[in-house]
Amino acid sequence: MKKLLVVLLMLAVMGTVVFAGSSGENSSLPTLGVAIYKFDDTFMSYVRNAIAKNAEGKANVNIVDSQNTQPTQNDQVDQFITRKVKAIAINPVDRTAAGAIITKARSANLPVVFFNREPFADDMRSWDKVYYVGAKAEESGTMQGDIAADYWIAQGKQNTVLRYIMLKGEPGHQDAELRTEYSVKQIQARGIRVQELAVDTAMWDRPRAVEKMDAFWARFGNQIDMVLCNNDDMALGVIESLKKVGIFSGGRYIPVLGVDATAPALQALAEGTLLGTVLNDAQNQGKATFDLTYALATGANPANAGWTLTDGKYVWVPYQKVTKDNFRQFQ
Ligand code: GAL
Repeated sequence: MKKLLVVLLMLAVMGTVVFAGSSGENSSLPTLGVAIYKFDDTFMSYVRNAIAKNAEGKANVNIVDSQNTQPTQNDQVDQFITRKVKAIAINPVDRTAAGAIITKARSANLPVVFFNREPFADDMRSWDKVYYVGAKAEESGTMQGDIAADYWIAQGKQNTVLRYIMLKGEPGHQDAELRTEYSVKQIQARGIRVQELAVDTAMWDRPRAVEKMDAFWARFGNQIDMVLCNNDDMALGVIESLKKVGIFSGGRYIPVLGVDATAPALQALAEGTLLGTVLNDAQNQGKATFDLTYALATGANPANAGWTLTDGKYVWVPYQKVTKDNFRQFQ
């Protein structure tokens, strides 16, 4: 009996050594802190899962939901510092808050990898242990513009003015501003004249896009030649709205474009409602974010983490055009 107690006691002690801290963490692995601007975002949930998958067997990742509130995220960074995590990966709620996060991280000598929401260049330069993983927003805009132009030209409408509605993501987000600018620029660069009927934000969000599109339809109806959206969730909201007024049945069609290539968007491509999207590569953005954060946490050189570092601190993951011709390879 005594022996059994001793063995049990020893096991308990070993248990606390192996699973130090909370939530079954493995103490022989480094712990990383990861904050996502909000969990309730389709594309970011793909990135989050990719980070978690890549960490398996290599690191404990403490992934927290910043609930779209910057003060909450600032508190989470403080907690990461208190808990002595080895490196952090931050998807800022407000990218202008990156400077304050860097100041905190720096005072604790805690390396930080930002992702998806790009801090300003001055903040990026302010410390050498700051990195960024993302994609070139202008590239996605240009690709979306090309899909739009291909369609218009294939309809033989090269010389007809294209009247469009633009649904933007969150104002100030580099992906919202640059996709908006570059998609239209590219349509024009292909020799097509355009007229913007309306531009508004639906904050990346599907239900909000339904509401906005309902109102646009009431105002412009059949004048609308095309709807350009900064992401797929909004494009799917637009399609939902247009279905209610009989578009996509009985030969009626309005081209709608998105960005991200989410699973429901690929489904919409298969059904022939969504005209096109652009792959925003969550798998590789998640992997690069993990690889860099892990390298920093373990004292390895991030330049050897398997990714090309531009200007010593940026990883740019390429976008890809997705249309009915190639969507199957992304499913
Ligand atoms: C964009 C993506 C959007 C949204 C946003 C969040 O890159 O296209 O769908 O997830 O990031 O910051």
